Amino acid sequence: MEKKFKRTLVTTALPYANGPVHIGHLAGVYVPADIYARYLRLKGEEVLLIGGSDEHGVPITIKARKEGVTPQDIVDRYHTIIKDSFEEFGISFDIYSRTSSKIHHEMASDFFRKLYDKGEFIEKVSQQYYDEEAQQFLADRYITGTCPHCHNERAYGDQCEACGTSLNATDLINPKSAISGSQPVLRDTKHWYLPLDKWEPFLREWILEGHKEWRSNVYGQCKSWIDMGLQPRAVSRDLDWGVPVPVEGADGKVLYVWFDAPIGYISNTKELLPDSWEKWWKDPETKMLHFIGKDNIVFHCIVFPAMLKAEGSYNLPENVPANEFLNLEGDKISTSRNWAVWLHEYLRDFPGKQDVLRYVLTANAPETKDNDFTWRDFQARNNNELVAILGNFINRSLVLTHKYFGGKVPAAGELSEYDRATLAEFTDVKSTVEGYLDNYRFRDAQREAMNLARIGNKYLADTEPWKLAKTDMDRVATILNLALQISANLAIAFEPFLPFSAAKLRRMLNMSECRWEQLGSSNLLAEGTELGATELLFEKIEDATIDAQMLKLEEIKKANQLNEHKAAPIRDNIEFDDFMKLDIRVGKVLECTKVPKADKLLQFRIDDGLGGRTIVSGIAKYYNPEELVGKNVCFVANLAPRKLRGIESQGMILSAEDADGRLVVITPADEVKPGSEVK
Ligand code: MF3
Ligand code: ZN
Repeated sequence: MEKKFKRTLVTTALPYANGPVHIGHLAGVYVPADIYARYLRLKGEEVLLIGGSDEHGVPITIKARKEGVTPQDIVDRYHTIIKDSFEEFGISFDIYSRTSSKIHHEMASDFFRKLYDKGEFIEKVSQQYYDEEAQQFLADRYITGTCPHCHNERAYGDQCEACGTSLNATDLINPKSAISGSQPVLRDTKHWYLPLDKWEPFLREWILEGHKEWRSNVYGQCKSWIDMGLQPRAVSRDLDWGVPVPVEGADGKVLYVWFDAPIGYISNTKELLPDSWEKWWKDPETKMLHFIGKDNIVFHCIVFPAMLKAEGSYNLPENVPANEFLNLEGDKISTSRNWAVWLHEYLRDFPGKQDVLRYVLTANAPETKDNDFTWRDFQARNNNELVAILGNFINRSLVLTHKYFGGKVPAAGELSEYDRATLAEFTDVKSTVEGYLDNYRFRDAQREAMNLARIGNKYLADTEPWKLAKTDMDRVATILNLALQISANLAIAFEPFLPFSAAKLRRMLNMSECRWEQLGSSNLLAEGTELGATELLFEKIEDATIDAQMLKLEEIKKANQLNEHKAAPIRDNIEFDDFMKLDIRVGKVLECTKVPKADKLLQFRIDDGLGGRTIVSGIAKYYNPEELVGKNVCFVANLAPRKLRGIESQGMILSAEDADGRLVVITPADEVKPGSEVK
């Protein structure tokens, strides 16, 4: 049995306030949540749409340090940009607040304290890197060093971006503090942990048994987390930006950003409704939904519910309709690589076309798998669907009414067989769209709404009222009445998806009300209603406009490629005398063989002009031994000999290493005598 609820609380993931928002955010979280909230409001239901900026966490502090400003400066800047973008795209938040607010700090702090007092945390001491010069503990992102896997010298303490391996700071070879550049030392530090293992039986029952209806991507991720076995999770950090840990002796420690951020949903509700917020969180007749992207699933389905459960007085989410990712032109959207369509830039390039983007993002919503946004598809959906179907139908209905009936809704006469069949088709649309929306299937719902316009378009094309105008005005009146009723239905059906165009359409039709129950009715516009002025709903997007966007992306791609192949940074200067200590010579390769059981090593016999020497070199992956015989190479002649696989190597052959780690032997440009010095 479906549970009945009195009201719905819709939360949307709080975006990090360390950069603007892009189409991936909109498609993954905010457009679907907004569609759902608008739909419920149209139905006259009690609903809240909660949003806000996530203003804590290490990346914000890193950005601030880089720019020489405070973290508060950073979040102030991006909070405003993000909030404006959402507003301009019609995301109908009841509140959009932020986690650096006083009310949130209090709420998060009290929440922690309550769990602390109930004994819901465990305390553990662990070792963490500490920067003695800067006198602070270092978050993993603040430590760089050499990746133990691929030897990239610029790996971070949490991940190597060259080979993609996730790391622990203690894995790094030669770790350096990103703050002072000094070598960090390990120090003991105490933190509080939420024992997720304790909640495992509950989570297993609640999700795996109780919520089999959740999207399979969400359910599947939860199942695999639970099956892997849950571990205690640290909920505090050594950092000076965030909500201070409200416990004696916790100086310099703040709540982990993933502990405080979801509490932001609660704080923002309280900020909006200081007196009645609790019914939205604690009354079991409130249905709570979290709209998020797939990278947030574990936090919203496992960690936050465990926190709420441990607190004891809160509801748990009824569903978590998480989306997969939206790619851009086949590549993963990336803020650091500027591979994104930024909302503020879109608005500059396509003013007034918010609904076009909303439409395309919903049509391609990554609901069950990752999906791709392409500019060509954007253009095609605009031109072939919004303009050619929806816009065209509305425009024809209105223009013909203005032309033949002075802009007043004409009276319908006797309906033909075909009229009745058309009516029957569009009355079905309501239950179909509802069925999809109730199950968070927004792309299917929008496609169904568009079907209504298709029905209308076909109706006009088949009945051809413009041809009947000379012979049968009564019939024209009936046809246009029906076309206008369909238009009014479209104004309701598209309100959740295309709020700007739906509002325009209601103005054009002079509709005073807009309720979901009216959908499917053929009696929405009374005979004689005076229509408003006709406005353009959608316009064709030309190839040149799309080409310009594609060009912009190509340039970004080129710039990224250049960047990624940037040479390693230059090492510290040395004295001339130091250079002169190196004795580099040219030698001719007399023999070259593979070293048995060592897949990297080649053994050389080199004519050095002084009787010859043996050198072992790690370039076997890049050369067949016979290729090198007879070649002149350069080698360091005064390197102290060392043994490799039992062979004494008397020097080092020089090679150049490219960005992919490929080694290329250095040879003189012309023939020179073995033993010549290289200076
Ligand atoms: N800032 C997080 C992200 O962008 C989402 C936080 S959601 C919340 O991935 F629940 F913590 F608020
Ligand atoms: Zn690596």
